Amino acid sequence: MEKDKKYSPLFDKNTGENISRLINSGLINEISGPIGSGKEANIFYTEDDFGRASAIKIHRHNINTFKSIPEYLKLRGKRAGGFIKIIDEWTRYEYETLKRAYSAGVKCPEPYGRSGNVIVMQFIGSDKRPAELAVKSSSFDVDRWYKEIIDDIIKLAKRGIIHGDLSPYNILNFNEEPYIIDFSQALKLSSATRQYLIRDIRNINDWFRRLGLETMKEEQILEMITNEKGNEGL
Ligand SMILES: Nc1ncnc2c1ncn2[C@@H]1O[C@H](COP(=O)(O)OP(=O)(O)OP(=O)(O)O)[C@@H](O)[C@H]1O
Ligand SMILES: [Mg+2]
Repeated sequence: MEKDKKYSPLFDKNTGENISRLINSGLINEISGPIGSGKEANIFYTEDDFGRASAIKIHRHNINTFKSIPEYLKLRGKRAGGFIKIIDEWTRYEYETLKRAYSAGVKCPEPYGRSGNVIVMQFIGSDKRPAELAVKSSSFDVDRWYKEIIDDIIKLAKRGIIHGDLSPYNILNFNEEPYIIDFSQALKLSSATRQYLIRDIRNINDWFRRLGLETMKEEQILEMITNEKGNEGL
């Protein structure tokens, strides 16, 4: 029992080992922060050995994190395993989705590396402070942002990806550009998950309508996803 006291209560042993691996590979230097904590994760600021400002997202290995996941894993067609394995698989899926989104040209943090339940990615913000959440922000070009975000939804969907939790709470305003974060609830697009794509579109449309914009019809956006040439107009 005494021995366990040397671990910070925030991290279990396995998380500590994952962090050590990322330190050894040069992706994490000194950890500072925290810069955010959500229902299931803690986010910290770090700079890596290459001098890049990075965000570390750690999915907690605890029972609360665990409870909300099995339903989603089913939708992803993944089987549940042991406790740590489930959360590692959850994190792996988020990281792989972030990689695909980034290489598709979606404005999102550049993924740098992952070990188990720990993701290291580009820090979106300046002076160690994360960029403002879009929901709290007023200084952006509403018309341009709407087009860009809908275009990002289409880019993802054409690659079979749904963000799954898209709203102004998961978009950061960095230098007046909309950066999409938090791909932890991403899903593969299929007839079983289409409702989540529609929910994302609805969240964005509702937000921009509140900002006074005349938004596109849901069906129109869905058509652009099925039609290969669909997003040329955006
Ligand atoms: N790459 C990043 N750069 C800068 N800040 C970030 C980054 N990723 C996350 N953050 C900060 O951490 C907060 C939480 O991140 P994220 O939404 O990914 O985690 P979460 O656990 O899903 O949180 P929530 O439950 O609040 O949605 C963000 O609102 C943002 O302030
Ligand atoms: Mg979030």
